[in-house]
Amino acid sequence: MNTNELKHCFDEEIDRRLVPALKTHPIVLGKNGEDLFAAGVADMDFKAPAPVLTAMQQRLEHGVFGYEALPDGLMPALMAWLRNRHGWDVDEEKILRAPNVLNSLAISASLFAGEGDGVIVQPPVFFDFYDVVKENKRALVSNPLILNAGHYEIDFDGLERIASEPQNKMLFLCNPHNPVGRVWTREELIRLGNICQRSGVFVIADEIHGDITFPDNKYTPFASLGPEYADNSVTLISPAKSFNIAGCCSAFTIISNPDKRKLFQAENSRLTVNKNNAFASVAMEAAYKHGEPWLDAVIEYLSDNLNLVRTKLVDAPNVNLIEPEGTFLVWLDFRKMNLSVDELTAFLRGRAGWAVTRGRAFGEEGKGFARLNIACVKARLEPALNQLVSAARSL
Ligand SMILES: Cc1ncc(COP(=O)(O)O)c(C=O)c1O
Repeated sequence: MNTNELKHCFDEEIDRRLVPALKTHPIVLGKNGEDLFAAGVADMDFKAPAPVLTAMQQRLEHGVFGYEALPDGLMPALMAWLRNRHGWDVDEEKILRAPNVLNSLAISASLFAGEGDGVIVQPPVFFDFYDVVKENKRALVSNPLILNAGHYEIDFDGLERIASEPQNKMLFLCNPHNPVGRVWTREELIRLGNICQRSGVFVIADEIHGDITFPDNKYTPFASLGPEYADNSVTLISPAKSFNIAGCCSAFTIISNPDKRKLFQAENSRLTVNKNNAFASVAMEAAYKHGEPWLDAVIEYLSDNLNLVRTKLVDAPNVNLIEPEGTFLVWLDFRKMNLSVDELTAFLRGRAGWAVTRGRAFGEEGKGFARLNIACVKARLEPALNQLVSAARSL
């Protein structure tokens, strides 16, 4: 199928309520939320790439699901993906399999920073970063992004200052950045990496959103900047977001420094993180080997959806779109409405019919914002935008 034919597939409405999908589940939608436009949880409403479905079906037909090693083709497929799509050559020995990205984030925080040490985050940022820091008894240190004429930037002066404080030992980098959609440039990453190196701050680069970038924006893996950046970091990646297989895949932790890698392996062993899921293995291998045309098509579909958001919001001057450079998450600025956090949620649910993620979940800096997930069928997005626009105009 060519890109256009693939794009048509994304118009297929699939009822996510037929399975216990979190996005449409009462856990997320809350009381009386079943009729809301469900655009919170960060996954897509689209079927996974056909080669992934075929590989899983074939694996199912085999019928025996005993303990398994990794399939021979998985690591080569991942390495070829990183090399061909992102220009990053990674040796196989540096790649560890992980149950999921957050698990590796938590292990990294517990291994490479001590109890009470400062972990730097750059809010507004993915809410689970806060929980991982807190639950591992590390200290949360905030270096908020700067919103400059609708564009988020790293506060490098702030970072320099905070990183130089000896108790601050680690930084969680979100590259690309959920929820503001920045795809950090090479220059920005080098600057951040140099500050961290000079100050002895270890970087944990969560790059789960790296595969989804809009035209003219290029994802640069932090560790690909050079050996000194790789040595001072751990990279977390996964095909979960890229191919919409978060419910049935695992993840990868890439560690260049051999001592740190040994420590991580020992911790995996202590926690007995050593089983492979048969379906995850075949799904990931097929995605990395054959999923690229699907990914390119989904990015085009997302670009069209983004365009729709842009066009519709022209009629709602009290809602501003923060232009994303990547991810399928769109950060909307409602501050002109002058509503409290609860009032904004009530407005979005009650008047617009939207169940999106409240900006406050991403930190204090997210007050007055909300995160919309645009990885949905256009025929659902359009009426939802119309409803938002008319609600915003009637305020
Ligand atoms: C930045 C970021 N990291 C990690 C995750 C979750 O990854 P996993 O499900 O592999 O733990 C998400 C999901 O939304 C995310 O946005």
